[in-house]
Amino acid sequence: MAVRIGFVGTGWVAGQHFKSLGQVPEANIVACTDADEEKAVQAAARFAGAAAYTDYRDMLREQDLDAVYICLPPHAHGELELELIGAGIPFFVEKPLSNDLETAERILEALQSNPVLTSVGYMMRYSDNAERVKKLLAEETAVVARSIYACDVPGPPWWRRKELSGGQVVEQTTHLFDLARYLLGEVRSVYGRARRGLIAEMEDYDTDDASACTLVFQSGLLCDVISTCAVKVGERSLEVFTPDARAKLSDGTGRLTVERANTKCTYDGEDDLFVREDRAFVEAVSGGEGCGILSDYRDAFLTHRLTCAVNESMASGRPVDI
Ligand SMILES: NC(=O)c1ccc[n+]([C@@H]2O[C@H](COP(=O)([O-])OP(=O)(O)OC[C@H]3O[C@@H](n4cnc5c(N)ncnc54)[C@H](O)[C@@H]3O)[C@@H](O)[C@H]2O)c1
Repeated sequence: MAVRIGFVGTGWVAGQHFKSLGQVPEANIVACTDADEEKAVQAAARFAGAAAYTDYRDMLREQDLDAVYICLPPHAHGELELELIGAGIPFFVEKPLSNDLETAERILEALQSNPVLTSVGYMMRYSDNAERVKKLLAEETAVVARSIYACDVPGPPWWRRKELSGGQVVEQTTHLFDLARYLLGEVRSVYGRARRGLIAEMEDYDTDDASACTLVFQSGLLCDVISTCAVKVGERSLEVFTPDARAKLSDGTGRLTVERANTKCTYDGEDDLFVREDRAFVEAVSGGEGCGILSDYRDAFLTHRLTCAVNESMASGRPVDI
């Protein structure tokens, strides 16, 4: 069955989904909404017969949609999800779920009383290498772990204002917090600290330059997570030590290195993670057999709650129990 899809938000990440949905035969993009009319029109022009809107309410009234992709900045969530849940329309939403915890809580509550199919853009879960680490950890005990998200300040103007983006931990390092939950289990408590003042010249910049936090998992495992948006030579990685091995997942696509006393194996990353997550969602909407979605709203909420707890700990200077 063809799946009639409407987009809300047609910025950078929507462009990634436009490309990857081109490789999913059932996907049919019929409408694009963006508050910026020019962007909406340009996006819609990529798909024969697609309509452009500046208000999603007009799109929902005029189009008979099977699914909606929500590619909005963190501060713009809430009303749209609640409207889709009310109308029974499945949605794919990019991470993070919101810039705060309360909005995501309201949406989760609405989903609990009125379930619709959801998927959240934690695409690193779809990598074969994540699966390899999962298998390794089924056989070997994780002793300790560490994770790094280090880069310079991303382009979108909303990113650099903490009240709009939620800050780097909530907006960006969330990918690694989610991967840590996926591979290592649930977290019991967090303790985080942040610093500012390194980035002084950038207009409208109002977020943490760097932070570090310690996660205590329910299993007792400890994992340190470092974030910074103040460096030009960066890294994105999650590294787990077992008694006999060191497994490191690196970069957005997830190259994996497994080192042991006398061996070192490297598995290349995969460049089609957006395609995999989009295929899983569209196939689930079209009623295909099985559900390949690896992150739904309920599960992603646990990651969001974790990153919001890190923010709370950084603000108070105290550990926070989850
Ligand atoms: N999964 C990933 O790897 C990944 C990568 C990049 C971004 N993202 C996430 O995707 C989301 C969007 O990021 P982006 O880089 O595409 O941002 P962006 O700024 O490039 O695009 C956001 C778009 O939303 C539009 N918009 C804002 N408010 C709106 C509203 N109320 N109604 C309609 N349109 C509105 C803006 O005009 C803009 O075109 C963020 O949450 C970000 O974290 C995920």
